[in-house]
Amino acid sequence: MEKFIDLLSKEVADAFEKAGYDANLGKVNVSNRPDLCEYQCNGAMAAAKVYHKAPIMVANDVVEVLKDSSVFVKVEAVNPGFINLDVSPSALKDYILRMAADEKFGLDAHDGSKTVIIDYGGPNVAKPLHVGHLRSAVIGESIKRIYRYMGDKVIGDIHLGDWGLQMGLIIAELRERQPELVYFDESFEGEYPSEAPFTISDLEEIYPFASGKSKEDEAFKAKAMEATFKLQSGVRGYRALWKHIINVSVADLKRNYNNLNVEFDLWNGESTVHDVIPGMVSYLKDNGYAHLDQGALVVDVKEETDTKEIPPCMILKSDGASLYNTTDLATIMERMRLYNPDEIIYVVDKRQDLYFEQVFRCARKTKLVNENTSLKFLGFGTVNGKDGHAFKTRDGGVLRLEYLINEINDKMLEKILSGREMSKEEATEISKIVALSALKYGDLSNQASKNYIFDIDKFISFEGDTGPYLLYTVVRIKSILAKAKEEGLEADTKNIIEPTDASSKNLLKTLLTFNSVVENAYDELAPHKICAYLYDMANAFNSFYHENNIMKEEDSAVKASFLGMLKLTLDLAETSMDMLGFSAPEKM
Ligand code: ARG
Repeated sequence: MEKFIDLLSKEVADAFEKAGYDANLGKVNVSNRPDLCEYQCNGAMAAAKVYHKAPIMVANDVVEVLKDSSVFVKVEAVNPGFINLDVSPSALKDYILRMAADEKFGLDAHDGSKTVIIDYGGPNVAKPLHVGHLRSAVIGESIKRIYRYMGDKVIGDIHLGDWGLQMGLIIAELRERQPELVYFDESFEGEYPSEAPFTISDLEEIYPFASGKSKEDEAFKAKAMEATFKLQSGVRGYRALWKHIINVSVADLKRNYNNLNVEFDLWNGESTVHDVIPGMVSYLKDNGYAHLDQGALVVDVKEETDTKEIPPCMILKSDGASLYNTTDLATIMERMRLYNPDEIIYVVDKRQDLYFEQVFRCARKTKLVNENTSLKFLGFGTVNGKDGHAFKTRDGGVLRLEYLINEINDKMLEKILSGREMSKEEATEISKIVALSALKYGDLSNQASKNYIFDIDKFISFEGDTGPYLLYTVVRIKSILAKAKEEGLEADTKNIIEPTDASSKNLLKTLLTFNSVVENAYDELAPHKICAYLYDMANAFNSFYHENNIMKEEDSAVKASFLGMLKLTLDLAETSMDMLGFSAPEKM
């Protein structure tokens, strides 16, 4: 369905043409002076140069034609040559009714033939999730949902960091602590125990310990490297131990991501492509893409137009070991083989942008991807504390995501319990839902590439540009609709009539941008655009609510129309929130 703003532009373009000017000049925008008009067209200013006339003369000519238009109730030429426009209630109503009757509210969705892989999450096993993992999860989940709503086939892959030295460190440290474990007995041929010899808390202690130790103790570092090598070359006991590490970690990760309402279709990791690497390396060598440089295997990726130095992409280190690049390239190769995606999107810390530039160039140059496969990097900024520095615990350590979520849940609970009659149980349930919106909206409402300040007190506020404010608005709508139902009134969007007051008109004008907002959020990988839409919607709804006494409205047609508007607002709010990955409770 065409966008409302395009429909208005078309009307004005026709008028330019009828008045003897180029139709392309008739572009309409939302007014930046809402006190003067709702929409505006500045085409007469540009026309003045082409037609050697004063802009106001052109504007007057166009306004003369537009006077008869049923799309506008007000058309005005104002000095020096602006055309100010107010849309007619009937045009607004017609559009809203068409939109409400459409399954996707006027969005031209895709036909499902496009396949997209989203690589997000990216946690490292055996390390607890920290605040840095929040953004990849939250933004990636939202992009996935926006793409799905658009009708694409979307596969979300967590791409675990589960291979390489970090695994060797844990194994080497376990060997120091418990050399008697059967996994280290090279003569053992039986079945290994199904129970892991450690818990997640053990792992969380072992990893940082081993990592710290390797920085000071050369001999230990050598052991860790040897353990990595043994693991990668398939030594049975090491593989079995590694499997335990993965299982214990993944169970914990699932619980954590579940609390964030974040889901992955694939739980693959760097290790998944281990066996793909040799084939990829031969392919790169045989086709002359890779060459040796001081013993390392590299692919040159610099281009003539580069303004900064882009180092070659290293495929294998001089000792033959694979690297982060190697697994990413092999993962691309494997994804192409299995899913043949049209697009792969990486939602990763923006500090990795040069790295991904290398990987993308390498994948293109070596034809690991098709010419038309698009590779996108959505780099996000850091989460900062109120002091403007990376978010830390009070003693300066990295903050575990779990603690952060608990803190926001607790504060929300306190807030919900104060001033409300509610059982603790119910309040706990509700506060989790509301806290999630606070957390996610607090993140998503910022442009992804920007850093933002994590301010719990601001995020959990029921007023202002926050998740809880949106939920509060939605709950208000739900409760009015429930009251109407008690009176036997079923809300139906078909009952929406021409708006008679400014606040109703404003609400409808806000709602109808849904299709262009979603398309824009999709094209620009920008969930914050959906946040802005929701916030505008909540504001427009609340002023409508304060201006009109919905349940006491005496004119039954107007009342039915109000209820229809409520229903449409609710549907659009819930659909939009779902694209952000949170939802509203029944009451709060
Ligand atoms: N595990 C990586 C890290 O902690 C992030 C993975 C990002 N995804 C990727 N395909 N490289 O930095």
